[in-house]
Amino acid sequence: MKLKIRVPATTANLGPGFDCLGLALDWWNSIDVETTDRGLRVEVDCPEGVEIPRNRKNLVVYGMDAVYRLAGQKRPPCRIHITTRIPIARGLGSSSAAIVGGLVAANTLLGNIYSRDELVTIATRIEGHPDNVAPALLGGLMVAAMEGKQVTVARFPVPRELRCVLFVPDLVLLTKKARGILPKRIARTDAIYNASRVALWIAALRERRWEWLEAATQDRLHQPYRAKLVPGMYALFEAAMKAGAKGAALSGAGPSIIAFAVHHGEPVARAMLQAAQRFGLAGGTRIVTVSPHGAQVRTG
Ligand code: HSE
Repeated sequence: MKLKIRVPATTANLGPGFDCLGLALDWWNSIDVETTDRGLRVEVDCPEGVEIPRNRKNLVVYGMDAVYRLAGQKRPPCRIHITTRIPIARGLGSSSAAIVGGLVAANTLLGNIYSRDELVTIATRIEGHPDNVAPALLGGLMVAAMEGKQVTVARFPVPRELRCVLFVPDLVLLTKKARGILPKRIARTDAIYNASRVALWIAALRERRWEWLEAATQDRLHQPYRAKLVPGMYALFEAAMKAGAKGAALSGAGPSIIAFAVHHGEPVARAMLQAAQRFGLAGGTRIVTVSPHGAQVRTG
């Protein structure tokens, strides 16, 4: 059996929604899986030249094995070809895309025994947090709430006029490091600050009140601490807003920066690039729309 899978990049947090809000982007990795007679062969096309494991430690294989284990079965021998387009370790959900690709591959080979919602819970167990894996599986804007290991997800469609303007630095930042610098405890005032803004985000989307995004993208739980790992972070937010963005935030754990624009993102992208140059921060910009779809599979 042959499968062609594509999995979108995702941006998590959206400012205040630390570990609970995420958005699927129209930017895709591809994974081809073919069952064979023996062994495991993993091929990787990675334009960034990052060394990606080609054994069971590969996150696609790891995801497949997790689903087969859960189903009490053994993964069949297969050949896997991965084309990575989502930049790695930049806060754009590259590891979630790999895990989700593996889960979807295995679930399809097993005859779709698990629902996409169930796959969110399985993926969260592997990844640790649901905010990238949920939109990678289901598309749109996702709210994910964890109760123990169980994840409840709600999906919100996103109006087509919203543009995500990304500045992707050349520097990599591992999520583990970006989480390691966060305080263990937070003030109640900060919790209220963020909870109110998560609700405001959803309201802004529903009502198309884009002017609410300026307040809705503010955060006190992670960005102030992560600013020291991303030189020029606040300067890029400011440049984006001055150029007409409706809101700006760190994408996931960073270091990429995301600004939200309506219809036209080009002036925002230019302003972010110029601000980054002033800080000596090398990188590139990309404007993408929100993907209403999560991972897609074609069988052949
Ligand atoms: N929400 C996570 C973080 C990243 O900010 O550390 C994505 O899961």
